[in-house]
Amino acid sequence: MTSTAPTTGKAPTTGKVSLTGIKPTGAPHVGNYLGAILPGLALAKSEDVRAFYFIADYHALTSVTDRDRLIHDTYEVAATWLAFGLDPDRVTFYRQSDVPEVFELSWVLACMCPKGFMNKAHAYKASVDRNVAEGEPEDAGVNMGLYTYPVLMAADILIVDADIVPVGKDQIQHVEMARDMAQRLNNQFGEDTLRLPKASVQDNTAVVPGLDGRKMSKSYNNTLPCFLPAKKLRKTVMRIQTDSTPPEAPKDPDSSLVYQIHSALISPDQKLALAAEYRSGISWGGAKQLLYEELEAQLGGPRERYTELMADKSQLDVLLAQGAQRARAMARPVLDRVRTAVGINR
Ligand code: ADP
Ligand code: TRP
Repeated sequence: MTSTAPTTGKAPTTGKVSLTGIKPTGAPHVGNYLGAILPGLALAKSEDVRAFYFIADYHALTSVTDRDRLIHDTYEVAATWLAFGLDPDRVTFYRQSDVPEVFELSWVLACMCPKGFMNKAHAYKASVDRNVAEGEPEDAGVNMGLYTYPVLMAADILIVDADIVPVGKDQIQHVEMARDMAQRLNNQFGEDTLRLPKASVQDNTAVVPGLDGRKMSKSYNNTLPCFLPAKKLRKTVMRIQTDSTPPEAPKDPDSSLVYQIHSALISPDQKLALAAEYRSGISWGGAKQLLYEELEAQLGGPRERYTELMADKSQLDVLLAQGAQRARAMARPVLDRVRTAVGINR
C-alpha cells in the first residue's frame, strides 16, 4: 500500500518541473483516490522534481453554472489533496484564477493556434458527437470556453515552464496541442521563448469499478465517495453488487466486484490472503465488512483532516494564496519572455 503520510521538508529548487491540473468537479471518490491522488502524492515526494499542483477553477466554468457549487468544489479539491498529505511547503499548490499571467499568455497562444486545432479537440468533438446523435445542431450548448479549452490548458502548462505533465490518456491530445502552440511561437519569435512540455501517462493505474461494475465515475452515480461519514460509507459498501452465491460457498475472487475494489487498496501479499478467504467461503456480508474496514483504515484519518479544513476555509485561502505567489514568481519571467519576443509593450 502506498503511504498517505505527509511529506515534510523544503521544495526542491532544481530538477524538472511537473504540473498537475485538477478540475473541481465534485466529491472525490475511491477511483480518484487510487487513480489520481495516490500517484500524484508519490510524484510530490520525488527529490528531483519541482511539482506544481493547481485547481483549474476557470476550466470548470466551461460547464459549471452554479456559483455556490464552483466555490464549494474548489475548496473541496484543495482540502482533499491536503487531507491526503500533499505538503504545500514542498510543492506549489494554487488556484488557476489566482495567477493572472495564465490568462494573458492564453491570449498570445490563441493567436498562435490554428482554429482547426480546436475543431479536433476531444472535449469539443465529444459535445458535437453527442449533439449529432441527438439530432441537435452541432454546436448546441457549446460555449467559447469549452471550444478553446485547450488554449487555456496550454497556458497553464507553458506559464510555469513545465517539462512533464502527468495525465490520463484522455488528456494527452491537449498536452500535445500545448507543445505544438509553444513550438509555433518559438518558430515565429525565437527558439528559447517557451519550454516544450511532454505528457507523462500513468497507464499502470488500474481502473477501479464502481458499485454497479462500470468504471467508478461521478457521471455514473456509482461511486464510493472518499469522505462519507463512517456509517454512510459502510451502507454504501453494502450496496456493491454481488451474485447469489450462498454464504458458506467458495467464491471466485476475480469475478467479484467487492474483491476487485478491495484488491485495488492493498498490497500483493494482502491480495493473496484475501483471495484465499474468498475461496474458502466468506459470506458477501463478511467480504463487504472487510472492505469497509480497509476503507475506514485508509480514509478515516484523512476524513478528519478534510472535515477540519473545510470547517475553516480561511486556512485554505492562506495556503492557496501563498502557492499563487510562488506560481506567479515562476510565471512572471515566462510572460516577460513572451511579451518581449512578440513585441508587446517592451
Ligand atoms: P469522474 O469520472 O468521476 O468524473 P474524473 O474524470 O474527474 O473522474 O477523473 C479525475 C482523475 O481520477 C483522473 O486522473 C482519472 O484518471 C482518475 N479516475 C477517475 N475515475 C477513476 C477510476 N474509476 N479508476 C481509476 N482512476 C480514476
Ligand atoms: N483538462 C484537465 C482535466 O480535464 C484539467 C487541466 C486543466 C489540466 N489544465 C491542465 C491538467 C494543465 C494538466 C495540466 O482533467
